[in-house]
Amino acid sequence: VRADAEWAREVRALAEERDAVLLAHNYQLPEIQDVADHTGDSLALSRIAASSTASTIVFCGVHFMAETAKILSPDKTVLIPDARAGCSLADSITAEQLRAWKAEFAERTGTPPVVVSYVNTTAEVKAETDVCCTSSNAVDVVRSVPADRDVLFCPDQFLGAHVKRETGRENLHVWAGECHVHAGINGPELAERAAADPDADLFIHPECGCATSALYLAGEGTVAEERVKILSTGDMLTAARSTGARSVLVATEVGMLHQLRKAAPEIDFRAVNDRASCRYMKMITPAALLRCLREGADEVDVPADVAERARASVERMIAIGA
Ligand code: 13P
Ligand code: SF4
Repeated sequence: VRADAEWAREVRALAEERDAVLLAHNYQLPEIQDVADHTGDSLALSRIAASSTASTIVFCGVHFMAETAKILSPDKTVLIPDARAGCSLADSITAEQLRAWKAEFAERTGTPPVVVSYVNTTAEVKAETDVCCTSSNAVDVVRSVPADRDVLFCPDQFLGAHVKRETGRENLHVWAGECHVHAGINGPELAERAAADPDADLFIHPECGCATSALYLAGEGTVAEERVKILSTGDMLTAARSTGARSVLVATEVGMLHQLRKAAPEIDFRAVNDRASCRYMKMITPAALLRCLREGADEVDVPADVAERARASVERMIAIGA
């Protein structure tokens, strides 16, 4: 299937027939982003999914994102073009592991901890969570927890480390999960690129292991401190519109470059690691989207009891920060 004008027309016509809104994450293939009604980061898309009046949501992203949309809108039909589009980060903690962590902690300290989970988790993990967060509001979410309460933060260790730095909270305990794509963007590679381009801004997603290296480079004066920006994908777009830099080194999944280049065509955006491509995100192909709209598949469902418990934690997230 070629993603040409005819394909786009058919996608749009089928979406209209199904009364469907098409949502695409910033890491999707450029042609999927361009045909969608809305592109954005996980928090923005969750908000749109919650407020949309369409009876069907077609989520061009990974499975946990479509699940989140279903949790927020149980009466809507939620479709994902390929249900196999998982997430290595979401796979790094199970509900059982989280239950055991909470129980062990409560037993040891005598007080139940507050669980903050990144949205990159399964619905079952969200059901065991007090409040969810995304990379754009993680710091605000953790700040909303009274300072004397212990926080268990899962599953991403690098986002956890970022939140700990920003909030200075000693009572934040971080699970050792990671995203294979972001963890693979390494510090030496970043240092080399940054040294070769001394005037470039660094836009770094907090899931990256190299965020710590960037701060280290700033600390030792190799990179000017104001050039290092640790941002969610949505916040990268906002920063792109206002930075005075002529070039920007981007440390995140390479799909992000498409929206950045559209937002600020005059800036030279380059990937820190151009192999940082998420194979799950890329399972949403033009052919898969067409099949999804023609057949009404794959449908995403979350058992009602799990969805109900998960909804409270997602709704708290939506209410906090942006
Ligand atoms: P954002 O929350 O910045 O969109 O990133 C999410 C992510 O990594 C999805 O895989
Ligand atoms: Fe998951 Fe990483 Fe892919 Fe995002 S980029 S969907 S965190 S595996």
